Amino acid sequence: MAILNYNNRIFYLNTRSATYALSLETETVRHLYWGRKIIRPEDFAGKAELTPHGFHSELDQTWEEFSGSGCLRYKETPLKLRFADGTRDTRWKVTGCDCNEDILEIVLQDEVYPLAVSLFYRVYDEEDIIERWVEIKNTGLEDIAFDRLFSAQFTIPGVSHDLLGFSGKWNGEFQLNNEKLGSGKTVYDSCRGITGHGSQPVFVIHDHASEEAGSVYYGALAYSGNFKVILEPTEYDFINILMGINDYDFGWLLSGGSSFVAPKVYFGYSEKGFSGMSHTLHRFSRGHFMSNLTKSAVLPVLYNSWEATEFDVNCRQQMELADLAASLGVEYFVMDDGWHGLRDSESRGLGDWDVNQERFPNGLMELIDHVHSLGMGFGIWVEPEMVNKDSELYRTHPDWVYQYGKRDILEARKQCVLNLTKPEVAGFILRFMDELLTKYPIQYIKWDMNRPVSEGISGCGHEQSFWHIHTLRLYDIWSRLRELHPDVYFESCASGGGRVDFGMLPLCEQYWPSDNTDAVDRLSIQHGYSYFYPIQYMRAWVTDCACPSNVRDVPLSFRLHSAMCGALGIGSNLKHLSENENKLIADNIRQYKAMRKIIQMGKVYRLKDHTKDGFHAVQYVHGSKSVLFAFLVKGRYKRNRFMVRLSGLEESELYEYKIQNQLFFRSGSYLVHKGIEIFLEGDYDSVILEFRIK
Ligand code: DGJ
Repeated sequence: MAILNYNNRIFYLNTRSATYALSLETETVRHLYWGRKIIRPEDFAGKAELTPHGFHSELDQTWEEFSGSGCLRYKETPLKLRFADGTRDTRWKVTGCDCNEDILEIVLQDEVYPLAVSLFYRVYDEEDIIERWVEIKNTGLEDIAFDRLFSAQFTIPGVSHDLLGFSGKWNGEFQLNNEKLGSGKTVYDSCRGITGHGSQPVFVIHDHASEEAGSVYYGALAYSGNFKVILEPTEYDFINILMGINDYDFGWLLSGGSSFVAPKVYFGYSEKGFSGMSHTLHRFSRGHFMSNLTKSAVLPVLYNSWEATEFDVNCRQQMELADLAASLGVEYFVMDDGWHGLRDSESRGLGDWDVNQERFPNGLMELIDHVHSLGMGFGIWVEPEMVNKDSELYRTHPDWVYQYGKRDILEARKQCVLNLTKPEVAGFILRFMDELLTKYPIQYIKWDMNRPVSEGISGCGHEQSFWHIHTLRLYDIWSRLRELHPDVYFESCASGGGRVDFGMLPLCEQYWPSDNTDAVDRLSIQHGYSYFYPIQYMRAWVTDCACPSNVRDVPLSFRLHSAMCGALGIGSNLKHLSENENKLIADNIRQYKAMRKIIQMGKVYRLKDHTKDGFHAVQYVHGSKSVLFAFLVKGRYKRNRFMVRLSGLEESELYEYKIQNQLFFRSGSYLVHKGIEIFLEGDYDSVILEFRIK
């Protein structure tokens, strides 16, 4: 049984290796426990081990699953609201619960005002994940105004834990930083209308955990708009964690009879360190979020034209690139920005999604047919949420963008954001995308989003609700398009990794983790990305040197190896490659195809991080096979031997592998416990080793 119900009061949510326990009290849902499995619910049946003290707030001391707000409570709480008569606190009565094998619903109601909250928990016991969400209902007639509507609250005993964070920026997403939680709150968020490059809607709390060992508590918010995570060490020796839609410039008017469902949270507990957490999340994503296109099939090797041509696109040149790409073994050809309207720079053409006549005098089919005749799938870039002022769309509908009354509209990257809260605007996007995919045999969409949202007002209820409505409309459009075109791959890009999160996972097959295609920078970006998100979704291109993000010369083999750690793509200007380079790319693509199932569908082990060690190693294991990538970024002091202990192998099996064409046989236990020596020399040296059970 995934949920144990003790007297309709204590509930044990049991996954394969953890227990999450809570109890229903008269006025709150008390959090009891989260951690390694405890087998006896009765252990929690007695009175709570809490000694209220007159000088302390009892409410602040209580571990709560979803606190009411205000009253004599000064910790962070998930709701901030105002009833019609100006009352601004909530006082819960627990009024019911409903429980089956794997779903628990608990109903809380305000003791006086017409507000009801249902807390839902769904236990995926085999997958070791719990999903939780909350539905807020206005059961009266008058509006209730919300300034905060978070999704979840967690309690972790003790205050002196480590937080593993994923901070970043454009061109430098998913950078790991480990910090001690101390006194004072730690808050990270996004207020850009997208998940953003700066932090992730997740938390990872641990006590000196490593990749292989140690307890890790983690949670991920399935949301792609403004989010906020608050970690509040309290004076009562626990951390109060809250996560949900950001309350920055947030407002929601809940009219009588209506309800609001906050974004879901997926959470878990690992005793196998960070790799235990990642494997659980990757497995869960495969089982519950991935589409039929990715569930059981590997992702194609693709070519993307952006870094080769930027906006200077035309049919002949794209056909030539396609010829070259096909000759290397590429399987999908994706034409990036610059094919539509009068789009010859970032200043114009966004919003006009008709094919540029001058660049494609015989229409788009000429290129698509050509790509198909080469045996490749065809993909195309779009940025549907945006418009340039210099476009037919803007000239026809200047009122379709977010803007404030008499103020000038703020442009970023010379573009404005379309007001998706207007049904006619959302309808326009859905229509042109559907027409594009119906008219042309397109197999791959790269959906971009290149500026943050600003200056929004929504006509729907509350003016500050536009942030959330924008995200909901986006989800509606993507979901509808995917229903209409289930065989098309969707890639989520927002100037690189600005929209990578669990909200997008069920809606796409690919993430573009960063605009930074420098092979060294990319190693740390990929490293950070892999903690939460599946490798299969991690598109990685080989591009030319120097790439726009980092001016340095990295050998092609290193660039290939770095990109082969994910879903391999090529972004070089193929017309400038030498014969040797062409051969090297073709050979590596061949090698990648033979091993990509292990990389995309296997378990990932982050063995070494070059930002700490100068030496980087990542390993993938799938069934009886494993691949190890090792990189030396900067050679120093003639050091050229690096010891690597492998992970995830069958210790009792005998593995076969080759180093410099010499064949070796070693047991799994030898490789895992003793390890092997890797020889790398100088700057930017790298190697791939393949292991298989003999
Ligand atoms: C930003 C993306 O991340 C790039 O890959 C490229 O598609 C450009 N936008 C196109 O404008």
